[in-house]
Amino acid sequence: MKACYGLILAAGEGKRMKSKLPKVLHKVCGKSMIDYIIDAVKGANAKDTVVVVGHKADIVKGHLGNKVSTAFQDKQLGTGHAVMCCEEFLKDKDGIVIVLAGDGPLITKETISKVFEYHIESGSSATILTADAIDPTGLGRIVRNENGEIEKIVEHKDATEKEREITEVNSSNYCFEIKELISALRKINNNNAQGEYYLTDVIEILKGEGKKVSAYKTSFKEFMAVNSRDQLATASAAMKERILEKLMADGVTIIDPLSTYIESDVTIGSDTIVYPGAFIEGNTTIGEDCIIGHNTRIVDAKIGNGVEVQSSVIISSEVKDSTKIGPFAYIRPDSVIGENVKIGDFVEIKKSTIGNGTKISHLTYVGDSEVGEGCNFGCGTVTVNYDGKNKYKTIVKDNAFIGCNTNLVAPVTIGENAYTAAGSTITKDVPDGALAIGRSKDVIKKGWVQKRGIKKK
Ligand code: UD1
Ligand code: MG
Repeated sequence: MKACYGLILAAGEGKRMKSKLPKVLHKVCGKSMIDYIIDAVKGANAKDTVVVVGHKADIVKGHLGNKVSTAFQDKQLGTGHAVMCCEEFLKDKDGIVIVLAGDGPLITKETISKVFEYHIESGSSATILTADAIDPTGLGRIVRNENGEIEKIVEHKDATEKEREITEVNSSNYCFEIKELISALRKINNNNAQGEYYLTDVIEILKGEGKKVSAYKTSFKEFMAVNSRDQLATASAAMKERILEKLMADGVTIIDPLSTYIESDVTIGSDTIVYPGAFIEGNTTIGEDCIIGHNTRIVDAKIGNGVEVQSSVIISSEVKDSTKIGPFAYIRPDSVIGENVKIGDFVEIKKSTIGNGTKISHLTYVGDSEVGEGCNFGCGTVTVNYDGKNKYKTIVKDNAFIGCNTNLVAPVTIGENAYTAAGSTITKDVPDGALAIGRSKDVIKKGWVQKRGIKKK
């Protein structure tokens, strides 16, 4: 097979987005548009890929790092000019290149692979990815002759009334023989409605030279370009549908796809059930047989098997097998919650590890703590971790029992099997097996009500 390369156009300003952020860095289901396209080209085994940057090039380059090569387009003189800026990248290469628009995140690696194959097998000089659009307004039209052969692409602004009736449109993705592309690009000019060097003009030039130009037609959905916020929302909805369909095909139950938001890098095991109002984001993995309940938000987290999360928020943390979280719990970054743990309602955990089988059932704050296995935290426990300047650590060893309304003033250690009495403020370390009482003694004043003359029935 011939060597295949990728070339992504990402130098344009994206004026219609009205944004400080370059268009290709806008996110669709949690991932920048440009990253979807790079992943798709790489997934189709392109040998090397170049991204043309221009508008706010430093920001785009900073985002790309050294994932791909970049070429610089100083002035945005059109898509043809943008490809010309890659001459350095292309000149020593023999083979084919797929040119992709940086604002079309829905393209898949499967389609790119098929286009590579189709292009080579058909012996074409250029293969355009086309689709039938319900509303082709604004897009380049594919003009064919009476034999159905492609003659040229005409931009909407340059098209005649008759040409505007054509519904087959240019997706702005094409495969070219590299040598022929470079030679045709040298012949384009900017005599058109926008005064730009159009890449689309290469098609008419190649055709005029008797070269074979083909179309590879697929669904318009995959080529949806994002030029405005409105189109960003439409593309995001299409991407979300694709993500959820894939998860469902892999055995995940999604009760109401319309009210469920799951981002593209999330993985979920089979027989997990996701309830309406769930937001699962970033680099999150969820195991099998979990219940992700209503109105739960999970970001960059690792969730084991058989975990139940109800109406809670989990950020950048790990939750191990068979643990129950919520309702209304908040697991903040850098926490590791063990197996068979219960984190109940109105419990906040921050930067802490919680050992297997521990129960923290209600109204509790655990921060900067190391909690062992089999512990029980009574309602209203607070780790007092901050003195206004520094944070301090609380250590609670295995099987400790923290009474209701205990303040654990850090730094402090509660020993194995130790108890704290309800309502205690503990400021000293508690040895293994001890009971710590940190509260004033009860005082009972008999007959006090009568003596004060307070009337009671
Ligand atoms: C382009 C096609 C049109 C097609 C449509 C599909 C041309 C002339 N027209 O139009 O036939 O139907 O896409 O969405 O190619 N870019 C640069 N440098 C430039 C200009 C653009 O890198 O000088 C990049 C943009 O960042 C963008 C892509 O090229 O990623 C397409 O540019 P855009 O201005 O969106 O082209 P359209 O007018 O949408
Ligand atoms: Mg566009």
